Amino acid sequence: MSNRLVITIDGPSAAGKGSLARNLALFLDFSILDSGALYRAFAYFHNQGLNNQDIEGSIKELLFIPEDDDTKIFYKDVDITSSIRNEEIAKVASELSALSATRKSLIDIQRNFMPSNNLIADGRDMGTVVFPKAELKIFLIASAEVRAKRRYLELQNRGQEVNMRDLIVDIEQRDMKDKTRTLSPLIPADDSIIIDSSSMPLDEVLSFTKKLAKKELNK
Ligand code: DC
Repeated sequence: MSNRLVITIDGPSAAGKGSLARNLALFLDFSILDSGALYRAFAYFHNQGLNNQDIEGSIKELLFIPEDDDTKIFYKDVDITSSIRNEEIAKVASELSALSATRKSLIDIQRNFMPSNNLIADGRDMGTVVFPKAELKIFLIASAEVRAKRRYLELQNRGQEVNMRDLIVDIEQRDMKDKTRTLSPLIPADDSIIIDSSSMPLDEVLSFTKKLAKKELNK
């Protein structure tokens, strides 16, 4: 294992982790591990009937291309971003992510992701399980309503039709599942810094986190 610097950003869905991770990575010139995308890709390949071993192989072939406000995900030259970033896949990903076989398939892929680069790792268990020794751990939260609104706008921008009420219910149900599962539940690491972005604009969250990261880099 290299002695790279790792910053983890964990929290429930649509708390703003992706945007914070992208902006912070851009500012610090770090790579990003979007672990949620790996769980979604797992669900996508599972839906295509692949077994766990073949899913692992397919996930290792994924290409992540960061863009201004999104990261495009390619599999064998095909852009599968919108095939994995939708609510149906999110539900399957949430179900499968509670299984030990799924988490086992993904743990080494996550730990070995861009091994010689400094890393921002975004997910649910980055600070507790995958990178327990990370130098800086952020746990980002926001109310279900605020998160549903953000997810609504995000999906609308992707041209997907969604109903706000359904989104709130889906988000609350998924949170409950993620928090109460036995394996890698969604909980803050003891040494994490909890930030509530319910009434804090994401650019304020970003500047606060930049300060924390700079402090870490200057150690
Ligand atoms: O962050 P996201 O919405 O793209 O994540 C999709 C699902 O994957 C989410 O329901 C929980 C699961 N997940 C997980 O169990 N562990 C992670 N580190 C990241 C995501």
